[in-house]
Amino acid sequence: MRPARSVLFDRIGLLYTGDPEHEELAGAALVAEGERVAWVGPAAHAPAADLRVDADGRAVIPGFVDSHTHLVFAGDRAAEFAARMAGEPYRAGGIRTTVAATRAATDARLTEHTARLVAELLAQGTTTFEIKSGYGLTVDDERRILRVARAFTPETTFLGAHVVPEGISADDYVALVTGPMLDACAPYARWVDVFCEPEHGAFDADQARAVLSAGIRAGLGARVHANQLGPGPGVRLACELGAASADHCTHLSDADVAALADAGVVATLLPGAEFATRSPYPDARRLLRAGVTVALATDCNPGSSYTSSMAFCVALAVREMGMTPLEAVRAATRGGAAALRRDDVGTLRPGARADLVLLNAPSHVHLAYRPGVPLVAQVWRGGARVA
Ligand code: NIG
Ligand code: FE
Repeated sequence: MRPARSVLFDRIGLLYTGDPEHEELAGAALVAEGERVAWVGPAAHAPAADLRVDADGRAVIPGFVDSHTHLVFAGDRAAEFAARMAGEPYRAGGIRTTVAATRAATDARLTEHTARLVAELLAQGTTTFEIKSGYGLTVDDERRILRVARAFTPETTFLGAHVVPEGISADDYVALVTGPMLDACAPYARWVDVFCEPEHGAFDADQARAVLSAGIRAGLGARVHANQLGPGPGVRLACELGAASADHCTHLSDADVAALADAGVVATLLPGAEFATRSPYPDARRLLRAGVTVALATDCNPGSSYTSSMAFCVALAVREMGMTPLEAVRAATRGGAAALRRDDVGTLRPGARADLVLLNAPSHVHLAYRPGVPLVAQVWRGGARVA
């Protein structure tokens, strides 16, 4: 084996480590050895390394952890977005437009499109990302979507229960999802998800419970699209079943908030979706006050949130959801890692993966302070520069 190459990141402006012990460090340096962080501390005490990167007073943060995306699809829905901005409401039924385009695309086309989006994520500082299926809705299409996703990330999620496709009853479709489709997809998935939104054309509590329970029995972890379009049973179901994360959480009762805190379920907020559907944003402050762990993610998909930018989500969370810049950066890194039950990413401490972003700014506060400005100067993943 080749000896691990070490890299010293020197003269860092503000280092956001994500480590609760010393979350922000001024005048720090960091050493990566091979794929891992080996040392973090005052620049004056930094050990020597094979390679030196002079940060020249610029900030370093952990690579973003985007714990909720739908990257494998074909086509776009720009016309639907434009119609919404002219006053049309968002409808879950739009998903079927993307299902038709995705079914018609070859594996090669899907892979190439996903690679383009993954490159977009990496260039913007996202070094860990989840990808869901959900635009196939047949056994073969859901399986091939997950196969494509698996080539890009270990964090793959089976979302056969996205909506009920044309030509089949909801009961028959749930039987398919919990039976043959799950059998075909589970080998390519780490997680199972369901769009629980009974009032808006998606699955009700009993159907969602059946889907998640079957996935859990097959060895998958649970996560839920919950309370996005209105109040509903999704969040409570996520808590009942010990899901890793309840995602969206836009319409919450006090009981929902208390349940998230009690069950230790991460609330993953997806402000790109509220932006692109012109909907009210979730109240992150209320969740934080209750002691809930909050994650931020892009929800990157062609219907409700076609952004791949975690920095954009951070800026929205600060401006529209009551988060401080520090809380938003924490949610976009350590929070995302918690939502994926990962302790090797989202923080920069010895032993963690050397996934980090060098910003063209002295501190991470600039991510929200300078919205829309491309501040990502360098991206390192597993100790190697990737952008
Ligand atoms: O997370 N809520 C369900 N699924 C996606 C929307 C998918 C679509 O509109 O294509 C979401 O917002
Ligand atoms: Fe989603």
